[in-house]
Amino acid sequence: MLKINKLHFKYKNSKIDNIENFNLKINKGEIVGILGESGSGKSTMLRIIAGLEQAYKGSISIADNIVYNENKFVEPEKRGIGMVFQDYALFPHMTIAKNIMFGLKKINKTDKEKRMMDMLKLVNLEEHKDKYPHELSGGQQQRVAIARALAPNPSILLLDEPFSNLDANLQEKIRTELKEIIQRANITSIFVTHDKEDAKALADKVIILEDGKIIKSGNAKDIL
Ligand SMILES: Nc1ncnc2c1ncn2[C@@H]1O[C@H](COP(=O)(O)OP(=O)(O)OP(=O)(O)O)[C@@H](O)[C@H]1O
Ligand SMILES: [Mg+2]
Repeated sequence: MLKINKLHFKYKNSKIDNIENFNLKINKGEIVGILGESGSGKSTMLRIIAGLEQAYKGSISIADNIVYNENKFVEPEKRGIGMVFQDYALFPHMTIAKNIMFGLKKINKTDKEKRMMDMLKLVNLEEHKDKYPHELSGGQQQRVAIARALAPNPSILLLDEPFSNLDANLQEKIRTELKEIIQRANITSIFVTHDKEDAKALADKVIILEDGKIIKSGNAKDIL
């Protein structure tokens, strides 16, 4: 589903590679965790996969289509990727329903509403559809962000620190919920965390990043 080969990336003002020789292969439906300390390059890597940053060497393909190599760069909106940002980035002036329908540009109103309702059901928020984001809890807002990312039916879901904004007591509940949502949606996912326990609970495969380099990778149960 996703193949990344010998990828190198550098921010404009950086003298060294911020991502160095990154390799990854993910099969359909797998959940991959990228684990690493602050500044190790986790968010950068998600942004490169989404097409929000451009690498300078290597290649990325999604569902057998090249989206990046030295001669090609596919724009983010054409990559079929859904992204949930660390702060969820919901539109505060739009209801939950409108937030979820936001990315559904090309389809008619009836289909849009049906898709929105399906997504609300998936994340268990049907009764909150007409509320605004500030009227929901952190965990509920996160589920709206996931529903919005999944609505256009992406082939890959990227989640940046899905647990960092949430109450520690809720951590376990949210982990279980998130795992259930991902499995129900049957979507290939990559999530970023600095917490080993998150990776253990959620990931099939794990990549450990340090200073932009993979220092360890493999099956979660073997390496964590
Ligand atoms: N826009 C930018 N311009 C230049 N350097 C950047 C930029 N964004 C991040 N960096 C640098 O790139 C490196 C990786 O940053 P990144 O945000 O990917 O880390 P991270 O692993 O997501 O950290 P955190 O856990 O704190 O979110 C850091 O050294 C950071 O200072
Ligand atoms: Mg980050």
